[in-house]
Amino acid sequence: MNSIISIAHLNKRYASGLEALRDVSLEIERGEIFALLGPNGAGKTTLISIVCGIVRLSSGNISVDGHDIAREYRAARSKIGLVPQELHTDMFETVWDTVKFSRGLFGHRPDAAHLEKVLRDLSLWTKRHDRIMNLSGGMKRRVLIAKALAHEPQVLFLDEPTAGVDVELRRDMWALVRQLRDSGVTIILTTHYIAEAEEMADRIGVINKGELILVDDKASLMKKLGKKQLLVQLQEPMLAIPDGLNDWQLVLNDGGNELECTFDTGEEQRAVPTLLRRLGELGVEFRDLKTRQSSLEEIFVNLVRQSR
Ligand SMILES: Nc1ncnc2c1ncn2[C@@H]1O[C@H](COP(=O)(O)OP(=O)(O)O)[C@@H](O)[C@H]1O
Ligand SMILES: [Mg+2]
Repeated sequence: MNSIISIAHLNKRYASGLEALRDVSLEIERGEIFALLGPNGAGKTTLISIVCGIVRLSSGNISVDGHDIAREYRAARSKIGLVPQELHTDMFETVWDTVKFSRGLFGHRPDAAHLEKVLRDLSLWTKRHDRIMNLSGGMKRRVLIAKALAHEPQVLFLDEPTAGVDVELRRDMWALVRQLRDSGVTIILTTHYIAEAEEMADRIGVINKGELILVDDKASLMKKLGKKQLLVQLQEPMLAIPDGLNDWQLVLNDGGNELECTFDTGEEQRAVPTLLRRLGELGVEFRDLKTRQSSLEEIFVNLVRQSR
């Protein structure tokens, strides 16, 4: 596999004794957008912080573009741009000075044209001489992104990038992420918003209580775990599900006026006509039909519930 980040058997126990990550193994493919999805406290920031060398691992091995993060820290770190979850940056500096400094930090030679492009893409160019402390919250977040991109990283980590940001920044950020991906940058974002993962990611990893419970590409995740439901609105309310329908996953709703049948996605093409024929044979009449497909949101909630 052509992976750019390789994480093997990673464990993290904080000094408090809290086990934040348990035996996490994960390969990030070059050029993909990977979403790490999990509720608050799942271990997303801990995982990112370890890969970026901010938090020390307890055991396991991690390499970034072939460089072990412990033995070749500088080489590994220079491949990575990090947009942290928390807003903290040098408030007294100007936008320009801070991005210039970030680039130099990783041993890159100055490149004013690159920094100008980054600032223009983030609508920060006209603010380049402003001190960061005088910018709005949204603008400060843009500065964090610009800092992360200043040294042309091959991998960009975005930790909860759109938590609490306005619609405009969210839109600009996703446009930029797509543009970066098209230029070959690998993107790893964490989120607890399912819609975000659904919209952006090629692959999704679900993390809960420090364990990576699933990794799959978005389409097959939806296909494998998605359920389809057929809702049959009955002419006459049904008191109980007839014996002849025991082979189906059926539930009666709405005081017996609606029959709900659940299928695995992909099964319905064969199952729906068979069920309707069977209803006909049993003399069950209906006035309307609806179908419903489970969203990634429902899939996620179910997964997290199961792994508790
Ligand atoms: N420095 C720390 N010391 C002790 N526990 C921590 C520290 N940082 C995070 N934790 C705990 O580790 C767990 C995972 O936290 P975190 O990685 O921030 O989760 P997420 O980013 O998914 O919300 C949480 O229970 C959190 O309270
Ligand atoms: Mg976090």
